[in-house]
Amino acid sequence: MTNIILLGPPGAGKGTQARILVERRGMVQLSTGDMLRAAQSSGTEMGLKVAAVMAAGQLVTDDIVIGLIEEQLAKGGSGFIFDGFPRTLPQADALGALLEGRGDRLDAVIEMKVDPDALVARITGRFTCGNCGEVYHDQTKPTARPGVCDVCGSTDLRRRADDNEESLRKRLFEYYQKTSPLIGYYYAKGALRPVDGMAEPEVVAAEIAKILGPA
Ligand code: AP5
Repeated sequence: MTNIILLGPPGAGKGTQARILVERRGMVQLSTGDMLRAAQSSGTEMGLKVAAVMAAGQLVTDDIVIGLIEEQLAKGGSGFIFDGFPRTLPQADALGALLEGRGDRLDAVIEMKVDPDALVARITGRFTCGNCGEVYHDQTKPTARPGVCDVCGSTDLRRRADDNEESLRKRLFEYYQKTSPLIGYYYAKGALRPVDGMAEPEVVAAEIAKILGPA
């Protein structure tokens, strides 16, 4: 089954597209951001260590995130969407080795191309359902009933601690400095598939579906 990376800056729509792929293709989303947030709320030593780093918009160390992905891959399965991982060249090398070690491969790296100026509005308006993870936006995708998730009916709607302009600026800086070199890395491997992340979510989903072929 297909394994892909969703590559793009904060707010590019990686989480939004990953949810669509899970629903329509039965793929498995592996989001290091979600894993790190889960570790934070469970209060583990690692969770406490990374909380401040994430709130400041900086990258967590490679060994921690590679360890999280290794743990997930060791559980088995296939059809993975790597969402927010890899974010550095050492992480990309580690992912290649992990996949090779299990006789698996990377089929495509979807580069979500966006205008950085649009990201502040996307990020500062975002909220998600704490129960099912559905992603919303104050202006472009509000819930049908205020304060209630359209998908599961939960009233546990949350905003992230790092979804403010100051953290976003740092996250963007980290992306362009440490993650964007992966565009060249995967281009050289012939795996890079750019899509227009500025289009409507359903148009982006259709572009990705075309790249991946029949489900
Ligand atoms: P992470 O959770 O991965 O966050 P991120 O990469 O900053 O990405 P986001 O989740 O903010 O955005 P997204 O692209 O998923 O956009 P979304 O679909 O929600 O990482 C958080 C932190 O964890 C990092 O800063 C770092 O500290 C740490 N971390 C995680 N992984 C790491 C790693 N590998 N190494 C080191 N540290 C790591 O969409 C955003 C908004 O826009 C939503 O409101 C949505 O409704 C809207 N929207 C989506 N698509 C569209 C569209 N096409 N048109 C209009 N609006 C849209």
